[in-house]
Amino acid sequence: MTTFTIAPESIGKLRVSEIPYALHSAPESEAMEQASIFEGPTWVYVGIDLEISTPGTFKTTWIGSTPVIVLRDEHGDIRVLVNRCAHKGSILCFSQEGQTKSLSCPYHNWVYDLRGNLKRVAFAKGVNGKGGVPEDFDYAKNGLRSLKVATFSGLIFASFSDNPPDIQTYLGSRVQHHIARTIGRPMKIIGTYRQRMRNNWKLYMENTRDSYHASLLHVFFTTFRLNRLDMAGGMAISENQWNSISYTESVEQFNDEAYSGNRSLQSDIRLADPTLVRQFKEFDDPIVSSITSVFPNLIMQQIGNSLAVRQLIPRGVDECELVWVLLGAQDDTPEQSMARIKQANLVGPAGLVSLEDGIIGNFIQRGIRHPGEHKAVIRMGGDDVASLDSRVTETAVRGFWKAYKDCMGAAA
Ligand code: FES
Ligand SMILES: [Fe+2]
Repeated sequence: MTTFTIAPESIGKLRVSEIPYALHSAPESEAMEQASIFEGPTWVYVGIDLEISTPGTFKTTWIGSTPVIVLRDEHGDIRVLVNRCAHKGSILCFSQEGQTKSLSCPYHNWVYDLRGNLKRVAFAKGVNGKGGVPEDFDYAKNGLRSLKVATFSGLIFASFSDNPPDIQTYLGSRVQHHIARTIGRPMKIIGTYRQRMRNNWKLYMENTRDSYHASLLHVFFTTFRLNRLDMAGGMAISENQWNSISYTESVEQFNDEAYSGNRSLQSDIRLADPTLVRQFKEFDDPIVSSITSVFPNLIMQQIGNSLAVRQLIPRGVDECELVWVLLGAQDDTPEQSMARIKQANLVGPAGLVSLEDGIIGNFIQRGIRHPGEHKAVIRMGGDDVASLDSRVTETAVRGFWKAYKDCMGAAA
């Protein structure tokens, strides 16, 4: 059996509408993606500033397969440090979140400050005048790697690149505007959860950009007439073609009359409690749901009034982890808070809608275990990457692969 060669040169030449399945199953893709994407010319989403609101608070997470600590230092600045001791490489910090004044390694107790500077080495002067670090040991050269950091509307991004584009250019004008419109105001965290998915991380990122599946795979949407492809909407693509917003517009959904029907397309099924999906008008535009996908690993969700950011973390070639943070506005009324919580039942690992998104990637993963040279056909809506006032398109999926190719091509 012939197989596609996993190498930056061959990936750089791919057509974005014909993607070899092998990219989701070949173990060698992982190291290449780590070097060219997660530690390449990208801004990787690592968290939201609400998670580290006071000096000394931190969270640990991953940029691809590299562990990092996201923290707020004593001056209030956000820092992203590689969570790897400069001595022998041990992970320093194991807590998912917490508060600290310094970072110390469990192995030989090297201690770093919150900017990653090495401050203390145990037994540096030896014992009884013997041993210890040599004269020329330079503390300044043995700190933690500190990454470039950018924030936008509270979202924290980190980059391994010495020279990344500014975050506004990276996101693009429509995506910037849409993120600011959705969460660029005083927000609060109203819930968090995580899920493991048994599929390559790219299959999930593709899924978030695939507006065409929503009314086909997600029976709940169509059954209760919540999201149909005949509703107004479209796909907005960023200037660099890397990022996208899939959006649905409707005036009908703000109409309680329409809800009180909630009639199934297939039968007389009705929601016993229509308040599960009752929305309040929140934005000065007709967009009632939208999924924003930023390369490589951020998804921002507005499903009605359910607002969330999702961070995707690869976990080897055939597994990934999705970290959800659900948001509300600080000035929500109790009724608005309740509406957000009720609508959140649609999404998440066991959501009435997004349950299927957690398994569909695994259906593919199982189907492509030995893919040979077979390729995915990503031609819905054409072969290009461009904004369109229709959601019957895979243009944003092609945009993902455009970004992938650009990163790999730069490495070739
Ligand atoms: S590995 Fe961290 S102090 Fe030795
Ligand atoms: Fe979906």
